[in-house]
Amino acid sequence: MAVGIFDSGLGGLTVLDAVSKALPEVPFVYYGDNSHAPYGVRDADDVYNLTTAAVERLWDEGCDLVILACNTASAAALRRMQESWIPKDKRVLGVFVPLIEAMTERQWGDNSPPREVAVEHVALFATPATVRSRAFQRELAFRAIGVDVEAQACGGLVDAIEDGDMILAEALVRSHVEALKRKMPDPQAAILGCTHYPLMQEVFQDALGPDVTVYSQANLVADSLADYLKRHPAMIGAGQEAKFLTTGDPKKVSVHATQFLRREIKFEAA
Ligand code: DGL
Repeated sequence: MAVGIFDSGLGGLTVLDAVSKALPEVPFVYYGDNSHAPYGVRDADDVYNLTTAAVERLWDEGCDLVILACNTASAAALRRMQESWIPKDKRVLGVFVPLIEAMTERQWGDNSPPREVAVEHVALFATPATVRSRAFQRELAFRAIGVDVEAQACGGLVDAIEDGDMILAEALVRSHVEALKRKMPDPQAAILGCTHYPLMQEVFQDALGPDVTVYSQANLVADSLADYLKRHPAMIGAGQEAKFLTTGDPKKVSVHATQFLRREIKFEAA
């Protein structure tokens, strides 16, 4: 019984950490496509091809259910995968619907018509590909009316985090927040729309100020996965073993992962 967690690199570890705490009995197989990160600067076909290859590899590990712990893949590839590629006995779920449901005060799967919600001015920080896809705005429009979203494509941030260059990452967060504030001076809420960004959550909060509520995905995805597995227990696949797979250099990736999660993580070649 294993569930697959996919990201272009290390960002999905923020989700893995939360889902393993929420579901300690489930073995998770993590797949980081570190040799092809960042996805955020790639076009939609490229993201689709890389994501489907990774998901097939997780199916080979006995994971019938795969979570795309990557907003870029969820935004640029998931819909196409669900429409024509995923076999009936497998599931692939994305990460941003749980976040939008939380922000719009909805229960899981509440598909009632869009309505007014408490927040009106929302800052979205995401990769260039996610911003370009307008997937957040589309999902939000299904659920809420009158919400003004200002998006900031955070170029360079995923590369800095993947390289473990936290000084550069901090400088980039501060300059992207400044750029956002020039367009929207007083956001009420901010969405960290890339799973790498919670690794910099304190810096985002500090740069945005204490009055801005910062939403990130890890715990929200963990709650909705727990709920999903309660309703679909058969989707826990046949795999038995938790493991960490990477297309990058396992040694280097393990060092950065251990540093981020503050516990020993050992990657093996995918
Ligand atoms: N963690 C991925 C996301 O959530 C990073 C994308 C990238 O590789 O640029 O979008």
